[in-house]
Amino acid sequence: MSSSPAQAIYLRNYQAPEFALDAIDLTFELDPQATKVSAEIQVRALGENRCLVLDGQDLTLLSLAIDGRPLDADEYQYQNDQLTLLNVPSAFCLSTQVEINPQANSALEGLYLSNALYCTQCEAEGFRRISFFLDRPDVLSRFTTKLIADPQHAPILLANGNPIAQGTLADGRHWVQWQDPFPKPCYLFALVAGDLVCIQDTFVTQSGRSVDLQIWVEAENQHKCAHAMRSLKAAMRWDEEVYGREYDLDIYMIVAVNDFNMGAMENKGLNIFNSACALADPQTTTDLGFQRVESVIAHEYFHNWSGNRVTCRDWFQLSLKEGFTVYRDQAFSADMNFAGVQRIEEVTMLRSAQFAEDASPTAHPVRPDHYMEINNFYTLTVYEKGAEIVRMLANLLGPQAFRQACDLYFTRFDGQAVTVEDFVACMEEISQRDLSQFMRWYHQAGTPHVQVQGQYCPQTASYRLDFQQATPDTPGQTNKQPLLIPITMGLLDAQGRPLPLKLKLASGEIQALGLQGVLELTQAQQSFEFIGLEELTEAPIPSLLRGFSAPVKLSFPYTPTQLATLMAQDTDAFNRWDAGQRLALDTLMPLIDAQVTQIDLAQDAPMLLEAYRALLTEAEHTQDQAMLASMLRLPSFAYLAEQYACIPVEAIEQVRQAMRFALARTFYPQWKALYQAQISQQAYAPEATQIAQRSLKNLCLDYLLALAAVPEYQQEVYQIALTQWRTSDNMTDARAALTLLAHAPDASWGRDPLAEFAQRWQQDALTMDQWFSIQATRPYADTLQQVQNLLQHPNFSLKNPNKVRALIGAFAQQNPLAFHQISGAGYAWLADQVIELNGFNPQIAARLVIPLTRWQRYQDTRQTLMRAQLERIQAQANLSADVYEIVTKALQV
Ligand code: TRP
Ligand code: ZN
Repeated sequence: MSSSPAQAIYLRNYQAPEFALDAIDLTFELDPQATKVSAEIQVRALGENRCLVLDGQDLTLLSLAIDGRPLDADEYQYQNDQLTLLNVPSAFCLSTQVEINPQANSALEGLYLSNALYCTQCEAEGFRRISFFLDRPDVLSRFTTKLIADPQHAPILLANGNPIAQGTLADGRHWVQWQDPFPKPCYLFALVAGDLVCIQDTFVTQSGRSVDLQIWVEAENQHKCAHAMRSLKAAMRWDEEVYGREYDLDIYMIVAVNDFNMGAMENKGLNIFNSACALADPQTTTDLGFQRVESVIAHEYFHNWSGNRVTCRDWFQLSLKEGFTVYRDQAFSADMNFAGVQRIEEVTMLRSAQFAEDASPTAHPVRPDHYMEINNFYTLTVYEKGAEIVRMLANLLGPQAFRQACDLYFTRFDGQAVTVEDFVACMEEISQRDLSQFMRWYHQAGTPHVQVQGQYCPQTASYRLDFQQATPDTPGQTNKQPLLIPITMGLLDAQGRPLPLKLKLASGEIQALGLQGVLELTQAQQSFEFIGLEELTEAPIPSLLRGFSAPVKLSFPYTPTQLATLMAQDTDAFNRWDAGQRLALDTLMPLIDAQVTQIDLAQDAPMLLEAYRALLTEAEHTQDQAMLASMLRLPSFAYLAEQYACIPVEAIEQVRQAMRFALARTFYPQWKALYQAQISQQAYAPEATQIAQRSLKNLCLDYLLALAAVPEYQQEVYQIALTQWRTSDNMTDARAALTLLAHAPDASWGRDPLAEFAQRWQQDALTMDQWFSIQATRPYADTLQQVQNLLQHPNFSLKNPNKVRALIGAFAQQNPLAFHQISGAGYAWLADQVIELNGFNPQIAARLVIPLTRWQRYQDTRQTLMRAQLERIQAQANLSADVYEIVTKALQV
């Protein structure tokens, strides 16, 4: 924990570094409790200042020397995490030696031990816990790293770059020295040491160089690396083909560790991964898990250009590398899987989780202008909304110009630390467009609302769309300016046939857009008029925001019939699906408001009933199971909740379940037949077609199990789920069945399967995470008692972030009924965990507290209870800057 009180840092105060650190030569004598780190740093003053201030946190200083001369005590000061050297020469070699304690490092920042493995996490500001340095991304240095360790405990010694020398010391310790030829900021430094095995492959780059690919894991995980390797090679090829980017070192290493705060880290040439994002095998990993490995492997690989070769000037620019890299990994995943469904999944997440963040006390711009703790800004806004911004740029420029602009960016700024403006300037230069208004996307927090009305005029055979845009106030930001919002759209006639778009411009000129066009909103209010609609007899149906062309909430007064037409006929897969979502929202929300407990489809939801009938009738012939599964899925609790200023927790859950039940009952034979039709004899493979089939199958199973409490269906659906649990050869099907059994109203259905699962997988940490999550999400209030008990389970540990996310995170974020139980017991329990975690892993504690910060969205009783817990946390002594910043923001509004 930082000894100084938390203070905000402002973008406007940015100052360029006054010293260059051209090279650093590191030596680590690894020891669990007393690792010695020696550094020789080549320092060069860039201006007149001769007072050098280096970052250093929790370091025991052993020695300091300038050009070989040890410093006297009055020549330096080490306090408040800063080492100040007075009167340094204009260029010199600084030698430092410090001692650190990896075993005592529970924050998982800097050098720490995960099981018996030494590893590092330096982004954002972890390097200062390893050695004195200018720990900021705009100081780039050449690194060499020598690792010395006991060969018994740490036979494998890895660091960035290429191995250049190795040997054995007289005392029996061995050493390896690594050299990274590319200057880099210290947040990309990494080392790993321990008892590891590796799987190897090679990749020949487009220019014909051969690269060694190595994935390093503990021996028992060797059989779980094939998918990561396959994904890595696909990502390398893809970045060459799509962006013309080639890998630059002779070796690319990935290491999987069990204790990791985030998903993975793009350290130069030596990625370190949360094992959950690297390891996969059919027995223990679901389809979703396989897809996550594929996308995270690609994400970290793509950072080699978008992040490492061209890096960030300061941490306010985080989205420069993260938003861009997420955009790149999403495009990769779209190419590897079904693009339409890939987009649906991205938007589902954005609209439920990022929109909620944008509407919360922790709302912030994609490029924040101040922060207390940068670790709190690795958010959905910076990553996912940041990716949407890059997507809009790519669409505004078109594929060719966007590629040219990216080429320009990579060439012009190679080896530099740059800003969001530098990136957008490349887009401007190539496209010859003024993107100054577009820049507001980076500065303004909050989700824009776009309201649209349509005016059909049969006399003039024209159709006018009137747009209004507004972005709500967010903490510290009012009076938002209009954004440049690209609306990709088309028009359909009442039968769903696409109409050619003839746009009448202000000049009176007519612009023919073909069957699809992009309207660029730039003003608070704006209208567009389409003409030449002589063939029509009634108003056309606008298909707006195709592909989710901008991260906004768009409303249009669609009739249910128009939505049904879009669902069935629109050419855009995303909008076909979204029309279904709109129809479901329009149907469910009045029922939620009325707090109904039972639904008569014919009476309460006639259009939705017809839509499901149509989908299920088509289902027999569909080639597109992925799309069908998406279309048949009801909006999630989180998405429904997002529609309400004050979230009616019980009513949403009640109506969702009632609708699921009604659809299950009405279409029971169809669900059963469709379920059976998806059962496959093929051996499991995590490829798109099979994944689609399983997702449809398990969606059908979900509907079947909605009838678990109805006497006439009970036995049959129980047997179907139990059979799937017993006979499936893969975790996707096994977990789907187990979850439904464990979540059935009769708790005894899940008892044996859960016990079987634990018996079989108790040695496998990642698999047991799933076991914890399944139980934490059982949708009944008494689940709180279960999770309290599970905290004591021998396989649980608060020290392991994956376990915390699996049990505590899942409970607070995916179990609304239990977490929000009106007694407040769920809130108090979460606060207890946050307080405990604050003491040893502030980053994780600060993430875990987020659900409590959303108190404004609940009714009074809950507000009071949630705030009381935030206040209790705030009153703790020794609150970390991480938790302090979040809790304070939440209580300030
Ligand atoms: N840069 C990492 C990524 O690819 C994010 C990350 C990994 C991170 N570990 C971290 C950020 C620890 C902060 C702290 O997205
Ligand atoms: Zn990243």
